[in-house]
Amino acid sequence: MSSDSRFAPLVLEKTDTNLIMINNYLYSSYKSLILVFLLSFFSFTAFSQDIPTEPAAISAGEQLFNANCKACHRVNQKLVGPALAGVYDRAPSIDWIKSFIRNSSKVIASGEPYAVGLYNEYNKTQMTAFSNFKDPDIMNILAYIKAEEGKAAGGGDAGAQPGAGAGGAQVPAEGGDTAPRYLNIILIGMILILILLVIILGFLISAIKRFLDQKTLTEEEREVVHSPISVGSITRSSGFIFAVTFIIAALGFKAAINGLYSVGVQQGYAPKQPIAFSHKVHAGQYEIDCKYCHTGVMKGKSATIPSVNICMNCHNQIKAGTNTGEGEIAKIVKAYNDNKPIEWIRIHNLPDFSYFNHAQHVNVGGVECQTCHGPIQEMDVVRQHSLLTMGWCIDCHRQTDVNAKGNAYYDKLVELHNKTSKQPMKVEDIGGLECSKCHY
Ligand code: HEC
Ligand code: HEC
Ligand code: HEC
Ligand code: HEC
Ligand code: HEC
Ligand code: HEC
Repeated sequence: MSSDSRFAPLVLEKTDTNLIMINNYLYSSYKSLILVFLLSFFSFTAFSQDIPTEPAAISAGEQLFNANCKACHRVNQKLVGPALAGVYDRAPSIDWIKSFIRNSSKVIASGEPYAVGLYNEYNKTQMTAFSNFKDPDIMNILAYIKAEEGKAAGGGDAGAQPGAGAGGAQVPAEGGDTAPRYLNIILIGMILILILLVIILGFLISAIKRFLDQKTLTEEEREVVHSPISVGSITRSSGFIFAVTFIIAALGFKAAINGLYSVGVQQGYAPKQPIAFSHKVHAGQYEIDCKYCHTGVMKGKSATIPSVNICMNCHNQIKAGTNTGEGEIAKIVKAYNDNKPIEWIRIHNLPDFSYFNHAQHVNVGGVECQTCHGPIQEMDVVRQHSLLTMGWCIDCHRQTDVNAKGNAYYDKLVELHNKTSKQPMKVEDIGGLECSKCHY
């Protein structure tokens, strides 16, 4: 198209002018090629996600895998979930794997066909969400999977049950890691071809230039022929501006999608309550202690929501609020007189099969409410601050030291622990990762 319009006005009468035009044409192709080259190089480095092969990555991956995935997965054998050998080839992309591991239900809910198919194939078993896993964690797990899968191909898999080795594995270990390698080879090949084209064009241009230099050219023509290929001339070209805008838009889009996948399904949930009760006014401005209202916190499993009676301790006196006037407080009085509980909408809610105890955390563990619930004293409307997934619980149990001060029961444990380890005793060390502690 564009070449037609460039060549259309040419009449083959003055060869030198023609050559100048051709030179110009080659020159602009040259610039575009450099652009394409830069672009493909960029996409190669930005989007290629090589699974690491260093021993350190593999052993870090092994630890993560054993602690988090082994309950349901083996590398070369189907368990609760699929055998993970070769996932990085069969799953839609590495990014998909990352999203799925962080929050599989979100990916499934998005209707993505591969995820939905898998979910149905595994009888709608929910995989645990590992929302706290960083990209390198997941890449390390993949490194471990790749290494294990190699072992199975080389000799026997020591862990696998008899019979499961040959026919049982879902994926032939041979074909395992070839596909991404092919992709890389194709990409590298394309880049090489581009480099070659750039070099050939460069030669052509300089040959034509040398030829034209032997002719007598006007000042203007000379300038056109000798216009340099500078960084400036490339960055000013419309092609470059388009490419940059495109890359930025693509990256933004990608970040948005990733962000959506990693947000917990319930995180940020903040329903409108029947009475416009404000923690900002009560716990913030008037500094009423959380435990004054949430009376169960120190002694029981549940923190409990205060009854109307507790509100009435103060609101039989205080009949109007600064922000909401009399309307909202009148609702409390009405509920009290009618002897009806206020129907607060519950915000935080773990599934029934999991067990969480407030007293264990707040009283024994000394964990602040805000660590889990966020800055409640600044919220007019309570919203769910944390993910409340299993990954969230476990992550904290790995990182948090046991609060052993003033607890005679723990003194012996700490003493024992310090004999065998230099690390401070974590919740993990007192059984905080045992399934039965959190599951009935
Ligand atoms: C509670 C059991 C459970 C745990 C724990 C678990 N998974 Fe899964 N996983 C599943 C199930 C079941 C599936 C199949 C899909 C579904 O039903 O949602 C699955 C699917 C997958 C898939 C997609 C597999 C495929 O064939 O494309 C990947 C990848 C995966 N899990 C990785 C992990 C990793 C990594 C961990 C540990 C960090 C982990 N899983 C922990 C149960 C689990
Ligand atoms: C520190 C507490 C804790 C420990 C330890 C724990 N879980 Fe969980 N688990 C939870 C919580 C909380 C949920 C529900 C969170 C959610 O819906 O994501 C859950 C959910 C699950 C689910 C349902 C999948 C899901 O994500 O909804 C399965 C299956 C499961 N756990 C299995 C296990 C197994 C197997 C172990 C032992 C290896 C284990 N859990 C250890 C707290 C724990
Ligand atoms: C004057 C009484 C009062 C005080 C003081 C108070 N709360 Fe509340 N809290 C409530 C009431 C009423 C609700 C239910 C309505 C709502 O969600 O806003 C509630 C709800 C909550 C919820 C959400 C419960 C759910 O449904 O999952 C959390 C979390 C919470 N409070 C934490 C705190 C913390 C932390 C403090 C101290 C900084 C605190 N509260 C102080 C009365 C109080
Ligand atoms: C310890 C005393 C105390 C308790 C208990 C208490 N409040 Fe209040 N409440 C106050 C004070 C003080 C104000 C501020 C009045 C003002 O704005 O001048 C207030 C204001 C309010 C307002 C109006 C807020 C505004 O700014 O307009 C509402 C609604 C309200 N409270 C609801 C409740 C409910 C519901 C409960 C029970 C869960 C409760 N309060 C328990 C002391 C209390
Ligand atoms: C270690 C994390 C953690 C800490 C610390 C914590 N909570 Fe919670 N809280 C939770 C979880 C998880 C739930 C959901 C429990 C469930 O559904 O069984 C919850 C639920 C609640 C609820 C509503 C349901 C119920 O249990 O009655 C209130 C109110 C609440 N918390 C208040 C508090 C207050 C006040 C504090 C501080 C004194 C506190 N929490 C400290 C994790 C925590
Ligand atoms: C902010 C950090 C934190 C989070 C988040 C957290 N925990 Fe804990 N958890 C602790 C600490 C600290 C202890 C140790 C308390 C003690 O000293 O006994 C503990 C102890 C426990 C224990 C007793 C373990 C034992 O061996 O005695 C259970 C059960 C438990 N947590 C369940 C949960 C569940 C379920 C969740 C998620 C819904 C959760 N925790 C989230 C910090 C946390």
